[in-house]
Amino acid sequence: MAMTILGTGSSFPENTVTNDDLSKIMDTSDEWIRERTGIERRHITSGEDHSDLVCKAAEHAVKQAGIQPEELDLIIVATLSGDYSVPSAACIVQDRIGAANAVCFDVNAACSGFIYALNIANGYFSAGMAETALIIGGEVLSRIMDWTDRSTSVLFGDGAGAAVIRKAENKLYETSQGSDGNRGNALIYKREQIRNPYIQVKEDEEENHLSMDGQMVYRFAVKVIPKCIEEVLEKAGLTVDDVDCFLLHQANRRIVESAAKRLHIPLDKIPMNLQEFGNTSAASIPILLDEVYQSKRLKKGDKIVLCGFGGGLTWGAILMEL
Ligand code: UT7
Repeated sequence: MAMTILGTGSSFPENTVTNDDLSKIMDTSDEWIRERTGIERRHITSGEDHSDLVCKAAEHAVKQAGIQPEELDLIIVATLSGDYSVPSAACIVQDRIGAANAVCFDVNAACSGFIYALNIANGYFSAGMAETALIIGGEVLSRIMDWTDRSTSVLFGDGAGAAVIRKAENKLYETSQGSDGNRGNALIYKREQIRNPYIQVKEDEEENHLSMDGQMVYRFAVKVIPKCIEEVLEKAGLTVDDVDCFLLHQANRRIVESAAKRLHIPLDKIPMNLQEFGNTSAASIPILLDEVYQSKRLKKGDKIVLCGFGGGLTWGAILMEL
């Protein structure tokens, strides 16, 4: 089975935080952040909720797709930082945009979430369970950052991206994905401690934040991106030259450039916007997809590769024809 993209959208908090702004509240510098990551600024919420961002991105995508919200059979939000555990962010979107006929749920595959969600939608299409879906990646990671930890808090940003997709016959679609829970400690965020009548609650327990072994994730990323991109190309019997655009998870410029070098992909086929948004986890690929769509650099029939990696550990790539 395969799909076509009908429309895309994105949304970010108004508040922009530059590297210099961060250097006023922690021991860091514009030079360090730029050199090690390529990030120059990011959007950090000063009021918008996760729900506001995902709903706005969804509204833009549905409008651009030119469909009625009632036509949606499926809404999936990839996220690890929603406002509520229940209802899901997807149910909130359903209510806000009036998509009364959709089945709605969230998935958490960290920064690979948008890839996983597209593959789930493709499975729904294959099983005849849906025809039109809204797939969103949205995060408010600033909610779970340790703002005294300069090694993580300078990297991430808040935002949401969305795509309306529709089942399509005879279109190219290949995927490769994987997970490795054995290396889960490399990027970890533990929820609050359990509180129930049978547990002695440790009142002095510290607040939980996201923590990351940056170097380990870096080593994992530079290996896994080329591996899963090569796998999807091999499945399709194509080479890098046959692909028009590669949309990689926006974590670090050095990671993207390393993948480009290993796969011999010219940099003009790999758009980047991490300088503007930082790492927005599950939102990074759909935000980039929307940017590329709005710029009209892609046309019907073009082949694109999407590739994500992140906590879990998780990874995945999709090769699709537009
Ligand atoms: O979507 C999830 C995927 N996550 C990623 O892709 C992250 C992958 N990892 C990375 O991108 C890089 O490992 C980082 C950007 C996180 C770190 O870069 P690095 O080159 O691996 O730096 P490092 O951790 O080895 O730190 C080098 C130095 C240390 O100081 P000492 O020990 O050499 O004195 C750090 O304490 O840089 C220091 N440092 C900072 N200095 C200024 C760490 N963070 C900062 C900072 N500003 N923000």
